[in-house]
Amino acid sequence: MTDRQNDVLFPLFAQVTQAGVSRRNVLRSLMAAGIIGSLVGRDAEAQTASRTVTFDHGVTSGDPLADRIILWTRATSAQGGDFYVTWELASDANITQIVASGVALSLASRDNTVKVDVTGLRPGSTYYYRFSFGSTLSTVGRTKTLPEGAVSNVKFAVFSCATLQKGYFNVYAEAAKRDDLDAVLHLGDYIYEYGPGGYVTPALAAGVVKEVRAAELQPQKEIITLADYRTRHANYRSDRNLQALAAKAPWIVVWDDHESANDTYRAGADNHTEGKEGTWTDRRDAALRAYFEWMPVREPLFAAGSGETVPRLYRAFDYGNLLRLVMLDTRMTSRDKQITSPTQFIGLYQTATADGRFPADVNADGTQRQLLGTTQEVWLGDRLKTSQQTWQVIGQQILYQWQPAPDLANTKLLTDAQKAQINGLIDQIFGAGAAQQFAAVAALGGPNPETSDSWVGYPSARARFARTLLQAKNPVILAGDTHNAWAADLRLPTATGVLPIGVEVGTPGVTSPGYEEIFVGVPPLAVAGIIQESGARNQANDQLVYADTSQRGYMLVDITHERVAIEWTYVNTVFSPTYTASMQKRLEVKPGQKKFSTTV
Ligand SMILES: [Fe+2]
Repeated sequence: MTDRQNDVLFPLFAQVTQAGVSRRNVLRSLMAAGIIGSLVGRDAEAQTASRTVTFDHGVTSGDPLADRIILWTRATSAQGGDFYVTWELASDANITQIVASGVALSLASRDNTVKVDVTGLRPGSTYYYRFSFGSTLSTVGRTKTLPEGAVSNVKFAVFSCATLQKGYFNVYAEAAKRDDLDAVLHLGDYIYEYGPGGYVTPALAAGVVKEVRAAELQPQKEIITLADYRTRHANYRSDRNLQALAAKAPWIVVWDDHESANDTYRAGADNHTEGKEGTWTDRRDAALRAYFEWMPVREPLFAAGSGETVPRLYRAFDYGNLLRLVMLDTRMTSRDKQITSPTQFIGLYQTATADGRFPADVNADGTQRQLLGTTQEVWLGDRLKTSQQTWQVIGQQILYQWQPAPDLANTKLLTDAQKAQINGLIDQIFGAGAAQQFAAVAALGGPNPETSDSWVGYPSARARFARTLLQAKNPVILAGDTHNAWAADLRLPTATGVLPIGVEVGTPGVTSPGYEEIFVGVPPLAVAGIIQESGARNQANDQLVYADTSQRGYMLVDITHERVAIEWTYVNTVFSPTYTASMQKRLEVKPGQKKFSTTV
């Protein structure tokens, strides 16, 4: 990426990459891998015999560019220490037509994860790759570089929110059956920090559901230290379904909150207790270090002298003339603390001025609350403004769409008993009196206070994003985080009327529970129906087009110059490793419309 040319390796990673490999150990390792065996004869054979290496965590690839791609594996050895492995990239699945090959270090200081940035590749090409040590081979992965020039079709599978203890990764298994993916987009909550029983829903508390894989979770506690985060990543990558999808296509990922701790912001997290659990900075850096070791992300860079404390994750990928994919970091880089009180949340909106400012949207010290931060906002604006492609796809964590506080008092979709149940749950989750506050917000036509961790909780940043979207040709926002499926037409009131500014689609969780585990027994269609019904009362707001609040699955985003089609595929269960799957909804958006035009 051209805007990174003057950047330098983030210090956290520079240290561990260069440290601790003596020349003698390197030579030994090369001999052991058979790489320079012919030079030293019998000694090399002895080394190969003495070191055993396994590739237990599969292979993956990521961050494709037109001429390069990241290959990843983990190579562990019973003898420990640092050693080299061989990698090969070929144009055929049997790895006979070798295009590139080399050696890469498996360093104990990087948890023996191995990452190679292979360069000199051809654009728009499918490759196969594997790692080896002596005669021990890894599995074979498939990957693809970015296409250039005239591109007619690109397909992404989009995922978020996989809590291992809560279910089987059937959603990954189902998507891994596809042979047509250009990339897997993961919008975060790829891992969760909780220990068994740490992620409580009303359904879990009532014994309606169980954590079916709790015994498999490693470590068996909330993760806090570097060793903990590494163990959890290894635990996830031991899953065969995850490994299958990891090997199927290049991954383009961003973290959400649970890669560190629930409801992360720049200086802390809801699920972090400063002191008792160490400092936030230590925990964040442990989480980040394990993330970059275990995920196929190009080594993070930062602008020299910029004072940045978090490696930059926001980046862009151009698919020829068809689309520009922009991936954002709404969590770690700049986010100020969330508002958790419903009263304070609605206060953001009650004090809004006619010219679209939110005077209450400030920190305790009076500074403007940030979500992306100025540097990332400017970068995003440039990426959208300069895009010559037909589509601008924005992959990020949290819902942008404005969802209303559900107007329970005036709906006929629920019985009085169901309304009482929901109000009881709101009080239980948000504290006594919360249901009354939610009802008051609904009567005013305000946003759902439950969404204060999303874009709606940062109205000034959201308003700036809306104006950026207005300037973009054909923006499509992808969101994760909520565990439910959403599609909305996005709108912006202006002096000349309410304008369409784009669409947003939300991908359901892989296993993390949706509203069905919160409002137990309330028909899912009624939950979605109330949000749609309450939102429709003010046509100046974003309008919900589709929702599914009870099923786990993924989105296929199928892009041509004529349309972006989004297909939601769901599995019938995550509580058993056997499942069925079906595509249940398809929506299309056409260029120039900035709203959904057809439903099928
Ligand atoms: Fe999540």
